[in-house]
Amino acid sequence: MTASPQSVEPFDLVIFGGTGDLAVRKLLPALFHRFLDGQIPASSRIVGIAREALDDAGYRAQLREALIGVCAAAQLDVFLQQVFYRPLDARKDEGWNDFTAFIGAQPEHVRVFYLSTSPELFVDICTRLGQHGLNQGASRVVLEKPIGRDLASANQINDAVGKVFSESQTFRIDHYLGKETVQNLLVLRFGNALFEPLWNAGHIDHVQITVAETLGVGHRGAYYDRAGALRDMVQNHMLQLLCMVAMEPPSSLAPDAVRDEKLKVLHSLKAIDDSNAAQLTVRGQYRAGVAEGAGVPGYPEELGNSKSNTETFVALKAEIANWRWAGVPFYLRTGKRLPSRVSEIAVTFKPVPHSIFNPDAGTLSQNRLVLRLQPDEGVKLWLTIKHPGPGGLRLRHVPLDMSFAQAFGVQQPDAYERLLLDVVRGNPTLFMRRDEVEAAWRWAGPILAAWADSGEPPRPYAAGSWGPSAAVALIERDGRTWNEDSE
Ligand code: BG6
Repeated sequence: MTASPQSVEPFDLVIFGGTGDLAVRKLLPALFHRFLDGQIPASSRIVGIAREALDDAGYRAQLREALIGVCAAAQLDVFLQQVFYRPLDARKDEGWNDFTAFIGAQPEHVRVFYLSTSPELFVDICTRLGQHGLNQGASRVVLEKPIGRDLASANQINDAVGKVFSESQTFRIDHYLGKETVQNLLVLRFGNALFEPLWNAGHIDHVQITVAETLGVGHRGAYYDRAGALRDMVQNHMLQLLCMVAMEPPSSLAPDAVRDEKLKVLHSLKAIDDSNAAQLTVRGQYRAGVAEGAGVPGYPEELGNSKSNTETFVALKAEIANWRWAGVPFYLRTGKRLPSRVSEIAVTFKPVPHSIFNPDAGTLSQNRLVLRLQPDEGVKLWLTIKHPGPGGLRLRHVPLDMSFAQAFGVQQPDAYERLLLDVVRGNPTLFMRRDEVEAAWRWAGPILAAWADSGEPPRPYAAGSWGPSAAVALIERDGRTWNEDSE
């Protein structure tokens, strides 16, 4: 529970893809938690939309099953009274008039249309919403990532959505921006005098961003095989993390002040293309192995397609060509079926310029600031200290370690809890502006093209390992190693 939840105006939140994985696993539980904290006004309605012929009772029964573990049944049933269902197909007329009347019954409500569907449907849904006048007043649309599969398709979607909803009504969600540690990065960097003077190429050796998952693609294979790790994780989540680390101090937290700075970082990324992709990137695909103590199939078997060339792992070395970051590598690594679920940003500082210690005191390690996104969100600052006691001076590398859950005695809210209510409040600071999405595709596109041109399949790695050995070689070539905290 949060310490002092702020109230929001009454709203109707309509989830297209209401029976889908994201809605059931993430969005509804997030809303339920906000309900338990008293943040959902009593007249607010949450409306699931999908093609299945369900009614309110059928939908509530489905959700009840999914949410029952989260809290006491009595509270769950009260929450579900605010949840409704309407069967709709964006490509057919049926049902849209009734739906419009249903939404129109509460004209004073903020309206949020959350498109948790495949991006191919975004245009059809928005066009319908526009035809029925549902884009008027305090209406907002939320677009899930990935927006398109390249720059051209992202532009098509953004153009079409833009005909119905203005940019200020459009919320492009990247749930990584709602994670506590990511928001905390803003506070750590700009709320402390300590780090910012050192936050540059003069003092930082390199940055690593790891997002490792133990799960395979499971039943999301149809989507995932068309996307792959670069489109699914790097083009959005990981680039957003990189931007939060690398951006210049914004003048305030005003939405455009922050987004302007992130955009400059995206524009400054050095190109990775046919000329250098083989040196700077590694793509992999998991094979059968052991994950979380059990034998698991490889990606091709899970997918039922032995010919798939889709990557489930990416490691790459990015560089930002500006004064602050010139020459500082940003190593990014993400994958499915890795040994542990861990997401973190590790900032390694340069070595001290000269050692005054005897060699038998031990080696001097570099300071490292590790921001843990999950599990157990928190911050770790590795320092060198003297091992306590007499008997000579021995150096030790130890962390100052803060777990947010322990320090504050609160459970960290899920990223969607914060972001959904930000949409209702109309605060787009933690959402991607159109130009950010475009800049991210402009950088990611040539990497995808280089991989396609090379014709090389992704390198196999055993499920439960840290990816292909080439990913280790990528960083070791530079005389560095992946942060062992995460391994
Ligand atoms: C989603 C990706 O955006 O993020 C998934 O589509 C991935 O493939 C997920 O599993 C990871 O999110 P989290 O919050 O569990 O790290």
